[in-house]
Amino acid sequence: MCGIIGYTGKRNAREVLINGLSRLEYRGYDSAGVAIVEDGDVQIEKKQGKLSVLAEELKRSPLQGTSGIGHTRWATHGVPNDVNAHPHYDHRKDIAIVHNGIIENYQELKKTLQTKGYKFVSETDSEVIAHLIADLYTNDLCDAVKRAVKKLKGSFAIAVVHKGEQGRIVGARKDSPLIAGAGDGEFFIASDIPAILEYTNKVIYLENGEVIDLKEDGITIYNSRGKKENREPVIIKWDIKQAEKDGYKHFMLKEIFEQPEMLRRMFTKRIKNGQAHFEELTFSKKELGKIKKIAIVACGTAYHAGMIGKYLLEKIAKIPVWVDQASEFRYRDPLVAKDTLVIAISQSGETADTLAGVREAKKRGAKVISICNVVDSSIARESHGVIYTHAGPEIAVASTKAYTAQIANLYLFTYYIASARGIKGLNEKKVFAALKKIPGHAKNFLEQHHSKKNKISGYAAKFHEYYLARNNKSCFLYLARNINYPNALEGALKLKEISYISAEGYPAGEMKHGPIALIDENPWVVCIATEAATHDKMEANIQEIKARGGIVIAIVSEGDGLGEDKSINYAIEVPRVPEILSPMLVAIPLQLLAYYVAGEFGYDIDQPRNLAKSVTVE
Ligand code: M6R
Repeated sequence: MCGIIGYTGKRNAREVLINGLSRLEYRGYDSAGVAIVEDGDVQIEKKQGKLSVLAEELKRSPLQGTSGIGHTRWATHGVPNDVNAHPHYDHRKDIAIVHNGIIENYQELKKTLQTKGYKFVSETDSEVIAHLIADLYTNDLCDAVKRAVKKLKGSFAIAVVHKGEQGRIVGARKDSPLIAGAGDGEFFIASDIPAILEYTNKVIYLENGEVIDLKEDGITIYNSRGKKENREPVIIKWDIKQAEKDGYKHFMLKEIFEQPEMLRRMFTKRIKNGQAHFEELTFSKKELGKIKKIAIVACGTAYHAGMIGKYLLEKIAKIPVWVDQASEFRYRDPLVAKDTLVIAISQSGETADTLAGVREAKKRGAKVISICNVVDSSIARESHGVIYTHAGPEIAVASTKAYTAQIANLYLFTYYIASARGIKGLNEKKVFAALKKIPGHAKNFLEQHHSKKNKISGYAAKFHEYYLARNNKSCFLYLARNINYPNALEGALKLKEISYISAEGYPAGEMKHGPIALIDENPWVVCIATEAATHDKMEANIQEIKARGGIVIAIVSEGDGLGEDKSINYAIEVPRVPEILSPMLVAIPLQLLAYYVAGEFGYDIDQPRNLAKSVTVE
C-alpha cells in the first residue's frame, strides 16, 4: 500500500525517483509525486493517475536537484486526486513528506495543529505529519522527526526533506516496511528492494521504531530510545533482471511461466537424501514433535494455500489444523496456547492483518512459523521461525508463483513435522520422487500454452464473445472437491481480481445447497475434475450443470475419458499425477484462464483497479 523512495547523492534525483517509483507502482497506483530540494527550496510535482502521468508532466517541467523523495499512492484517506497525492508540504512549504500507512490519531493531532494556525489542504491523514514536524523543527530535521514520530499512532513509513537541509533525508518506520540502500557516495531509502536495486545491492533493513538519517556522507540509524545503532548492510543476491518483464507482456504471465523452474530449484534445495530440509528454520524437531494443534493464518491467495496445507497436515502429519483469515483470527479470541503452532503465510511478509495475527499468537504463548517470500520482511522477522519460499520477486498484483511456492513448501513442511511426530509409513523417498516430477509436468503443460493462441486463450476469447453477446450478463462459478477445493476459491479470486467478472468458488458437494440456483445458460462453470477419489462425484456435478444449460470448462487429467465430449463444452488437460500432488498443477490453468480473460477485456492485468500488492493497512 503506497510506495516511498528517497535519494541523496550526485545523480539527477528526479530520474532516480521516477525509476524507483516505477518498480514500486505495484504497491499503489492512483497518484504519484516527487519533492526535490534545490537552492533552498522544496519543489513538489504530483499528479493523479499512474506514474506515467507524472513522468510526462516532469518532462514538460523537469525539477532539478540531487536529493528528494517520491511516492506512489493507494488511497486510504481522501479520494485519488492531485491534492491528496503525496508529497505533502507543511504550511510554509519548508518541509515535504511522503507516507505509507495510516495515522490513527490524525484527527486529534490535526485539531491541535489547527488551533496553532496550521492550514491543511488535503483530506489525507498523512498531511498532519508534515505540519507536526514543522511544529517541532528547530534547525535539525532528524531531531524534529524523532520527536514527531513519538506522537504518531498507527502505522507509518515516512521520508522527509527540509528546504534548508539540502542533501538530507530523514526516514522512520513503525509497522510499515522501510529499507535503506548504501551506494558509492549516494544513499537511498525505499519501501522495497527493487526500487533501488539498479543502483546498489547493499541494503539495510530498518526495525520498528527506528529513525534513519541519510546525508551525502553517510547513514545514521537511531533506535526507538534515540540511541545510535550500528548495522552492516546485507548484500542482496538477486538482481534487477528478476524484477523485469523479460520479454513477457505482463509480469503476471512471466511469473506464471517461472513456476516450473522455481519449483525445480526449491525441491533441489529442500529435498536431500529423501528428507525435507529447512536450514533457516531454527526450530528443533523435538520442539515440533510436542505441538498438539496447528492454526494457519493468512489472507487472500496465501489463505487458499493454507487451506491446502490443512488437507496435507491432517492427512499426512495426523495433527488437527484450522485455517483462519488473519483479519478474523486477530479479533475472535482464537484458542491458541503453548501447545499450538501458528503458521502465518504471506508472500510480502507485510500484510497488516497477518502481522497482527502473528503478534496475537505470540501474546497467547503459541509458537509461530511463517512462510514468506520476501526475505527479512516484518512477518518473517517477528515469527519464531521462518520458511522462505524463494520464489523471487512477485510484481504482478495477482499472486501466482508465490501461491505454488507456498503449497510446495507446505508439502515439504508436512513431511518434516510428520517425521518429527514419529508418524510411521511416510514413504518419503517415493513421495518426494513423485513431487520432484511436478516441475517437469508444469513445464510440459506451459509449453503447450506458450503461443499467443492456445487452448485456454481460445476459451477466454469465447467467453468474451459470449459475455458481450449477452449484454455483459455472465459470471463464473468454480467447483472442486477435497484438496482442490481451495483451488476453486483461488481460481475465482484470480478471475475477480483482474477481470472484474463476478466469480465464486464452491465445494462441489455444496452445489445443491444453493449455487445450483444460479445455473442457467449464463454462468460458466469451471469444474476441477482431475484424477481424485471423488472423481465420480465431480462427473455427476458436471452432468447436473449441463442438465440445467450451464457451460462447463473442465480441468481434467490427461487422457481422461471426460475429454471434450457432449457433457463438457471445453476441457483443459493437465498431466496425470496423484490427487494429493495435483493442486500445484491445477493452479496453473486457473491462473492462465484468469490472465487471458482479463486480456480479452483489455484490462491492466498487472495493476488491477483498487488493489495493491501488499496490504499494509487493516
Ligand atoms: O503478501 P500476502 O501474501 O500476505 O498477501 C495476501 C493477499 O493480499 C494476496 O494474496 C492477495 O489476495 C493477492 N492479490 C491475490 O492474488
